Amino acid sequence: MVSIPEVTLNDGTVFAELGLGTYNLNGDEGVDAIVSAIEAGYRLLDTAVNYGNEREVGEAVRRSGVDRDELIVTSKIPGRHHGFDTAIASIEESLQTLGLDRIDLQLIHWPNPSVGKWLETWQGMIEARERGLVRSIGVSNFTIPMLRRLIDETGVIPAVNQVELHPYFPQGDLRRFHAEHGIRTESWSPLARRSELLADAVVGEIAETHGVTPTQVVLRWHVELGSTPIPKSADPDRQRENADVFGFALSHAEVAAVSHLERGRLWDGDPDHHEEM
Ligand SMILES: NC(=O)c1ccc[n+]([C@@H]2O[C@H](COP(=O)([O-])OP(=O)(O)OC[C@H]3O[C@@H](n4cnc5c(N)ncnc54)[C@H](OP(=O)(O)O)[C@@H]3O)[C@@H](O)[C@H]2O)c1
Repeated sequence: MVSIPEVTLNDGTVFAELGLGTYNLNGDEGVDAIVSAIEAGYRLLDTAVNYGNEREVGEAVRRSGVDRDELIVTSKIPGRHHGFDTAIASIEESLQTLGLDRIDLQLIHWPNPSVGKWLETWQGMIEARERGLVRSIGVSNFTIPMLRRLIDETGVIPAVNQVELHPYFPQGDLRRFHAEHGIRTESWSPLARRSELLADAVVGEIAETHGVTPTQVVLRWHVELGSTPIPKSADPDRQRENADVFGFALSHAEVAAVSHLERGRLWDGDPDHHEEM
């Protein structure tokens, strides 16, 4: 079993340096895949109302036999639930679907500027935290101006901002802002969804130097940046491979070479325009 190091968030709670993405892990096969990841050493599990698999995540938590307090369950409020009361109701519904009495990290999935209610949603999440429904609160797909406004108007700094981040889109400016404000960066689609990135010559050369796989180089690169990647894999062998990135380190030059692959967002997910309800 791999031991994944912990980090402390700005609210004093424990988080992980790497977690499991669960998008597309549904049904009995999904539960089996999530249980196998927990058995491999994963402690951070990333779900969302819109993934339609909170039931599966809750079931895997119970079936794993791992102490509940060791696991970090993340869920996300969808755009159609934005608003103060609706955010709290959304969290209560997630708890019911998960079959858990606490969500460890609750995020706003997308800001959805056309809805215009992410600030009220955030205030609802602050209330939900005070009521003990969730332990930590954060956001996803928030830009620097949105984060500034959130902090200025509520005084509550998100613990995490989960964003598209991979070698093609390293998010340098946003990561600097996070570092200045104590926000933990979390990388979604950290493998760029197994695009040609894993066959890239630069990544391949570094992998050979360290005797690891290209995937492990990419995931270690996230760790070196101080961001928590949440690779999704349904396969127990690939899950183990993905978690096994804490026995080697990349040099500054290697990190820079991987960051140099930058080309921009891959899926048109600019939070100023992209909407997900
Ligand atoms: N907040 C947001 O808006 C947002 C958006 C997108 C994603 N997310 C979260 O981020 C998680 C990860 O992102 P993602 O699922 O889009 O993409 P990803 O983790 O970058 O890539 C997943 C793909 O890579 C494959 N893969 C995994 N490990 C591999 C390995 N060692 N070798 C070769 N292929 C491998 C997987 O196939 P197998 O399963 O067959 O291994 C799957 O096809 C999601 O599951 C979700 O939890 C959040």
